[in-house]
Amino acid sequence: MIKVGVCGAMGRMGKEVVNAVCCSNDFELVCAVDVVELDTEVCEGVHINGDLKGAIEIAKPDVVIDFTQPKNVFENAKICLENGVRPVIGTTGLSEARLNTLREMTEKSNLGCFIAPNFSTGAVLMMKFAKMAAKYFENAEIIELHHNQKKDAPSGTAIKTAQMMAEENSSFTTGNCDETEIIAGSRGGSTNANIHIHSVRMPGYMASQEVLFGSAGQILSIRHDSVDRKCYMPGVLLAAKYTAEHNEFVYGLDNIL
Ligand SMILES: NC(=O)c1ccc[n+]([C@@H]2O[C@H](COP(=O)([O-])OP(=O)(O)OC[C@H]3O[C@@H](n4cnc5c(N)ncnc54)[C@H](O)[C@@H]3O)[C@@H](O)[C@H]2O)c1
Repeated sequence: MIKVGVCGAMGRMGKEVVNAVCCSNDFELVCAVDVVELDTEVCEGVHINGDLKGAIEIAKPDVVIDFTQPKNVFENAKICLENGVRPVIGTTGLSEARLNTLREMTEKSNLGCFIAPNFSTGAVLMMKFAKMAAKYFENAEIIELHHNQKKDAPSGTAIKTAQMMAEENSSFTTGNCDETEIIAGSRGGSTNANIHIHSVRMPGYMASQEVLFGSAGQILSIRHDSVDRKCYMPGVLLAAKYTAEHNEFVYGLDNIL
């Protein structure tokens, strides 16, 4: 049995993870951490603890699954690694510099650490297909659509998709005429390889992304929609098992699918 802690256990994703862990025969929920609703019992005998370090010392989890907030996730991951626990991170918003720091800490401590901007298997396939298509088109843009409580933009999935496409094609959206943005931001944010990313936030969406490719006379559209948070759970549990068994830093679910 792999002993699991969940950080952000009272959040939308955290509650799903707690439920998935408690229903699985391979995992045991040993602690649950959040900064709200302290002492609430989330699973038999497991109550919300407000202090991650304290919870780790008492419950000694093998892995801690983190679905908290972009502003807290780095500190949480450091607490895990400094205390001999392997973080599995779904929280988005970690900068390149912070990812590198966590990679170095993981290697030095000889532990495992898994970070995935998207744990949904369908979304990972969408990213792989976008990477495959990238070398056949000169123009590409990404539109990502999320619920209006999402705190970071663009989404981690959009950033990761752009990175994967850039590995195949170093400059997209070429051949356009000179543009003037009448309203700042109209053309979205431009990241790796000149791929423009547009972020939509509104109630009704959960998490969707469309990657548009264009060349003379044709458009290819690759789209994925997450309609229920349950879609992330098989990927989260797969990553938790992998992380408990491997002393590696892994970024992206695609690496173990
Ligand atoms: N990787 C993926 O597949 C994936 C999927 C969905 C959401 N996400 C990301 O997961 C994160 C959480 O999403 P959500 O919709 O569950 O958010 P949410 O706001 O519903 O939940 C976050 C929870 O974390 C708690 N929290 C905040 N700071 C904390 C801290 N320092 N210690 C412990 N708990 C803390 C909050 O009280 C809250 O209960 C976001 O960054 C979101 O973008 C990732």
